Amino acid sequence: MMQKLQSILTEAKEKIALVQNQNELNETRAFYMGKKSPLGEILKQMGSLSIEEKKTLGSYANQVKQEIEACATAKRKEIEKLETLKRLEKERIDISLPGKDFKVGNKHPLTQVIEEVEDIFIGMGYNIAEGPEVEEDVYNFEMLNVPKGHPARDMQDSFYITENLLVRTQTSPVQVRTMLKAHGEPIKILCPGKTYRRDDDDATHSHQFMQFEGLVVDKHITMSDLKGTLSLFAQKMFGENRSVRFRPSYFPFTEPSVEVDVSCFKCGGKGCPLCKQNGWIEVLGAGMVHPNVLRGAGYDPEVYRGFAFGIGIERVTMLRYGVDDIRNFYINDKRFIKQFKGE
Ligand code: DAH
Repeated sequence: MMQKLQSILTEAKEKIALVQNQNELNETRAFYMGKKSPLGEILKQMGSLSIEEKKTLGSYANQVKQEIEACATAKRKEIEKLETLKRLEKERIDISLPGKDFKVGNKHPLTQVIEEVEDIFIGMGYNIAEGPEVEEDVYNFEMLNVPKGHPARDMQDSFYITENLLVRTQTSPVQVRTMLKAHGEPIKILCPGKTYRRDDDDATHSHQFMQFEGLVVDKHITMSDLKGTLSLFAQKMFGENRSVRFRPSYFPFTEPSVEVDVSCFKCGGKGCPLCKQNGWIEVLGAGMVHPNVLRGAGYDPEVYRGFAFGIGIERVTMLRYGVDDIRNFYINDKRFIKQFKGE
């Protein structure tokens, strides 16, 4: 009988080892552990044995049962592990697939130039200022030394909302607004912004365009400060070897006033189609702040002096990138804008 039990154990272990899944395992286990199992059959025959024999056989039978049970439990765990692995394998994400192509846009070329110029001037200690696009006549003209009826108004006809309210023709009114707010303190500002004039719309003109206004007011400001500042700007913007040239000009709000040229960055000053063969390219207007403007905004022109400049943002961008039609900036043609990926 003991031998029979032993062979049942061996057989059960073999069968369990061969099982492939939980169902088969359940069946096999049930077969060996149930009432009608071979083990059960043997136990039924125990009646004829002596007490001693019963004890020995009984305890061995129990041991066999426990071993079969342990073997089935181990197998169950093994099957579970395999099934988990199979499921993971089946649900695996194929990361070798090419990813989705995200289209990355780029900043508008005008925005890029604005940020670049802002950085240049912030590096020189300037603050960025802002002013309204719908402006009062006093700030846009009157306090800039352009009274009603002044001939300089002709060049800057604009869109009027009321008799005294217009879309600003220049960023220069921000000079006045800043001075009034500063209450006699020194000033160093750069103001980028939109401006409007009644104008033809062609390759180089637009009724809406943008400017940078620069203003520095302090006690010992001279024209050489202006020249040094604009030289540095030209070198940072158009290349290290650039120099600037001042030509006498007229603006009502500056005295003296200058037109500022930068040595041609294409030919280096020898003469080429870009600079119309004269080696210089006109880039901006500037000058020393007119005493009337200083006085009107609360600064004593005997004590304070200042310089100011006005740069056309489109013009600088066109020169910088060789754009030949200003209208390209406004029509939002992606084929144009995409070309300015920046660094
Ligand atoms: N506001 C002038 C214009 O639109 C440009 C300008 C010239 C601005 C000289 C200035 C300046 O601040 O000093 O034509």
